Amino acid sequence: MIKLAPSILAADFNMLGEQIGHLENAGVKYLHIDVMDGNYVPSISFGMPVIASIRKNSKLIFDVHLMVQEPIRYLKAFKEAGADIITVHAEACTHLHRTVSKIKELGLKAGVSLNPATPLDVLEYVLEDLDMVLIMSVNPGYGGQSFIPSTLQKIKDLKTMAHKSGAIIDIEVDGGITIANVDYVLEAGANVIVSGTSVFVGDINQNIVDFNRKFTKFEVV
Ligand code: DX5
Ligand code: ZN
Repeated sequence: MIKLAPSILAADFNMLGEQIGHLENAGVKYLHIDVMDGNYVPSISFGMPVIASIRKNSKLIFDVHLMVQEPIRYLKAFKEAGADIITVHAEACTHLHRTVSKIKELGLKAGVSLNPATPLDVLEYVLEDLDMVLIMSVNPGYGGQSFIPSTLQKIKDLKTMAHKSGAIIDIEVDGGITIANVDYVLEAGANVIVSGTSVFVGDINQNIVDFNRKFTKFEVV
């Protein structure tokens, strides 16, 4: 099943609850929540209080993408705020295995994200513990950037790697995905599509219809 994970980084924070309601009514299941600490990435977004607040009115699966240095320090706090899936950056964890184990111990789904220049090898010995791998198709830190084409080969290679090792993982791709390029990302093997700008700019409902139409072509019948 292919899922759209709209990134609220591109939402209008003045109407955040309302816009999340639109997503839910349009049948969206995942909400991608980008947390930036101004240290691991240059910018700062938002943190636990915002997540705890939107949790009160939403049943969506909260897919929390931590662009945070040493995220192990905050895992429990993000669980308490309402996270369902926590994804950490391999590059931001001194002890990646320990961090992933802690996410699992908290009863959450665990994801690991890789920046565009990070090779897949770093996943070799943790892959079987993961529920999801998040392939960054832009350098993390800002919404609205352009998709980096070398990501497509990386998605294909990850799919092969998972297949060989027998690991069952979701492959999520994040950054610069539009209606115009999503076909390539799906063709390469991704099944969770993050999109900020292309969901929230313009008509949210129409944008979701457009993405879903693309997904239908790739669903296994
Ligand atoms: C980038 C974030 C992305 C980003 C996606 O650091 O992780 O989730 O907000 O936004 P668009 O779709 O605008 O590239
Ligand atoms: Zn993200």
